[in-house]
Amino acid sequence: MNLSGRRVVLGVSGGIASYKACTIARRLTEAGAAVDVVLTASAAEFIRPVTFEALTGRPVLTSLWDRGEALSHIEYAKNPDAIVVAPATANLIARAAQGIADDLLTAILLAATQPIAIAPAMNDDMYAHPSTQQNLQRLADRGWELLGPARGSLAEGPSDRPGRMLEPEEIVAHVVRLLRQATSRWNGLRVVVTAGPTREPIDPVRVITNPSTGRMGYALASAAFTRGSDVTLISGPSLLEPPTGVETITVETTEDMLAAVSAAVKTADVLIMAAAPADYVVKEPFREKRPRTDGPLALTLEPTPDILRSIANVKPHNCKVVGFALEVGDGAVERAREKLRAKALDLIVMNRADEAGAGFESETNRVTLITEKSEQHIESLPKSAVAEKIFDSVEALL
Ligand code: CTP
Repeated sequence: MNLSGRRVVLGVSGGIASYKACTIARRLTEAGAAVDVVLTASAAEFIRPVTFEALTGRPVLTSLWDRGEALSHIEYAKNPDAIVVAPATANLIARAAQGIADDLLTAILLAATQPIAIAPAMNDDMYAHPSTQQNLQRLADRGWELLGPARGSLAEGPSDRPGRMLEPEEIVAHVVRLLRQATSRWNGLRVVVTAGPTREPIDPVRVITNPSTGRMGYALASAAFTRGSDVTLISGPSLLEPPTGVETITVETTEDMLAAVSAAVKTADVLIMAAAPADYVVKEPFREKRPRTDGPLALTLEPTPDILRSIANVKPHNCKVVGFALEVGDGAVERAREKLRAKALDLIVMNRADEAGAGFESETNRVTLITEKSEQHIESLPKSAVAEKIFDSVEALL
């Protein structure tokens, strides 16, 4: 994600979660955005402005009178592409909902016309209180985006009720989506991504599977979310956290994945099959755990259904379909091209299983993007950057 040229006002109000705003400021700055941090007086009690100045390389404002300019709140309200308040305390939410502008942050919020997102963070009883709920509803009705809160432990102890601020990485994903929304071709498109391996049982405790981690598919689902799409991720077993903002459906076998993809693809604009479904299923799995014996064990395997071929008649006519080809040895591009045709794909992403820093279990990938008419080699990049390249290519086909 490249946010250069984009401006964000990050408002921070005074809750214990204020320290997490440092990570938000840092991530957005790393992505190239100019981040202007505005602290309420109580936030400045939790975190000193100098911390944010060091993280963003920009001055931090805490008061309407900081620069001796009475109109700084108007300037700060008009310039950014988006405003995010994280954490947003119950008090900040109440003041904003009433249109009170008694400090710099609330004055900016009152003068702002661009998208605003807030990440509530407070004690679970304060969040559940009808006053807070009504205030939040009022802000949502005004078009403000409410990010969270999550359930989970609070500063004062464990809780299973909402109140805890979303994690900084989740908030950043929402802010990036907000920033991209104005210009994105992907707004409102339905994108279905598959990821990870599948598992076929041998007996109740043994499976046939492969070393796919799901990283490439999860990176694609995250990228589709930040581009503004409605994303469904259909994932085989994976240790990865479900991506922010994405409907994640978990499946076990290739047959399960086929059923989930067949249902989801009916309304999809784009399907990306990044999963590595197991190609074989045991014809007659043992019902009970089979004790180990000394002699060889013969299993009869049958091919699993090919998901891409099976959905050809279910998918909408104009749904773009992207497949992956995991290849080894010479002639990889040619074999990928054959798969492109055989599986009636719009784009195939060729990656290699016999190359360090690519394919399964790698943080990076080196891919060739192949369409009927083009071939683009992309040097080794983190999978998140590869995902962006893939979407750039699909965008050209939309
Ligand atoms: N695929 C699928 N259904 C399967 C197996 C694979 O839809 N049962 C998809 C993969 O998600 C990928 C594409 O088909 O997008 C190509 O997968 P790949 O494993 O490279 O090719 P295969 O068709 O399985 O052929 P081979 O393993 O012989 O190379």
